[in-house]
Amino acid sequence: MKILAIETSCDETAAAVCQDGRTILSDVIYSQADMHALYGGVVPEIASRKHIEKISLVAQQAMEQAGVKPEEIDAVAATCAPGLIGALLVGANFAKACAQAWGVPFVPVHHIRGHIAANFVAFPELTPPFLALVASGGHTVLADVQDYTRMEVLGTTRDDAAGEAFDKIARTLGLPYPGGKAMDQLARQGDPHFYHLPQAHVAGNALDFSFSGLKTAAINLVHNLGQKGLPVEKHHLAAGVCHAVAQAIVPRMVEGAKERKRDTLVIAGGVAANSVLRAHLEEEAGKAGLRLFLPPLGLCGDNGSMIACQAYYELLAGHTGTLEQNCYATMPLSEDVSAAL
Ligand code: KG4
Ligand code: ZN
Repeated sequence: MKILAIETSCDETAAAVCQDGRTILSDVIYSQADMHALYGGVVPEIASRKHIEKISLVAQQAMEQAGVKPEEIDAVAATCAPGLIGALLVGANFAKACAQAWGVPFVPVHHIRGHIAANFVAFPELTPPFLALVASGGHTVLADVQDYTRMEVLGTTRDDAAGEAFDKIARTLGLPYPGGKAMDQLARQGDPHFYHLPQAHVAGNALDFSFSGLKTAAINLVHNLGQKGLPVEKHHLAAGVCHAVAQAIVPRMVEGAKERKRDTLVIAGGVAANSVLRAHLEEEAGKAGLRLFLPPLGLCGDNGSMIACQAYYELLAGHTGTLEQNCYATMPLSEDVSAAL
């Protein structure tokens, strides 16, 4: 079964063709990041307009690179939630039009489920159940993945996403948007304990996260040093922030696995590319005797392959959308996008 999938939830216009869920025949990404970098963050209106300009070309390239003709496509999928609403609508409408023209089902996909599915693309041996952490620019979610289309949220961020904290701190340090990768690189020469950064204690659900305290502390530190005319040791601050994020995430993943009696940990999303987080996870998963899957860096950020893979499992579960399918800026991971009103 061949699926063409479209991803336009934020600032990448992406399309991929996959066969039977796990074999990627093509994966094309047009990144708008350079344009949004001029403004220090994603400008939703510009994102939507760029998607409109690029979507046909990107999808056409994905079909050509896969060497498939429209009549060989069995379903067309698109990310329909969560994300920037104008950006989502471009991809969803394009995919619905293709599905209608080609007489095949349309499959709406949850973006965060897609991030998790990036691991199915990378690791043929990986099957649910497992515990997954998705950390991106807009989300930090710890989920018990019971099956390909059945997942329960165990913890989520109370305020900022981990990626958002990285990006805002990076901006204060004068690093270009999106700053997570630059923070990661700087951290390699830094001492994580040079500056004191707080570790958030979240009342209530022990598996929830909070990153706004870390973000504010790091930004205040930069401003205070600046007011005193003192230099900021950027590499030490970057190392401290990476360490604090890893310290917030890793114990919750290990605890979640223990609570749910899962023996496998999976990470996903842009922040999953962070080398400090990956190193901490390898160490702690090893100590706890848990299997760990770390997706290749190219599959951590937004891409079409992850949506194509998840679409395959949604289609098998009968989760197809009608031509009236809408898009949603927010939606819990546990919800079936095709059933949303
Ligand atoms: O999943 P993604 O590509 O897009 C969203 O769905 O948001 O995640 C983007 C986020 C950005 O905040 C970016 O700074 C962060 O992932 N990121 C990183 C790294 N690479 C990307 N954060 C920390 N370390 C990295 N190496
Ligand atoms: Zn994403």
